[in-house]
Amino acid sequence: MVSDIMNNIVLCGFMGCGKTTIGKQLAKLLNYKFIDMDKFIEEKTKMTISDIFKNHGESYFRKLETEVAVELSSQSNLVIGSGGGAVLKEDNVIAFKNGGKIVFIEVPLDIIKKRLTGDRSRPLLLENKLETMIKLFNEREPVYNSVCDIKIKNIDNKEPKLVALEIFNNLKP
Ligand code: S3P
Repeated sequence: MVSDIMNNIVLCGFMGCGKTTIGKQLAKLLNYKFIDMDKFIEEKTKMTISDIFKNHGESYFRKLETEVAVELSSQSNLVIGSGGGAVLKEDNVIAFKNGGKIVFIEVPLDIIKKRLTGDRSRPLLLENKLETMIKLFNEREPVYNSVCDIKIKNIDNKEPKLVALEIFNNLKP
């Protein structure tokens, strides 16, 4: 069975690439539990991600993110939707790789721009939105590429179910 071999699957990629929607579908296919890291942090701290950034700053959020990356990586049979910045920190990548495989969902910037238009939930994009988005996207794409074990391209806005199936098929030994 795939689930016995692969252990956790961590989805990474830029904000808006579909980690949560695709992750939920993938978890169903694998009969795994889906965990969204941001939601997990919000439940743990009883604060929204926006409030954590606003009241405690990004570095505090990053500490929480690492705690959660380590905690979740010690469990098994999880599909984990990581935050867009999670794999930028080596400690998180080490934890994720100890617990399973990292899958990068690659989506072109044009699609990301459309998806994030009007979004107010991502603290990093609240000011200078487009400029920051382009800068972060260009900085991060090489990192996603270098840390991932598997890369799936969704260049044509495919349905989450189809992308999940493609990931599933790539997990087969
Ligand atoms: C972040 C992405 C967000 C969230 C936080 C920081 C980032 O998650 O973790 O706002 O640094 O890219 P999503 O990728 O799920 O939006």
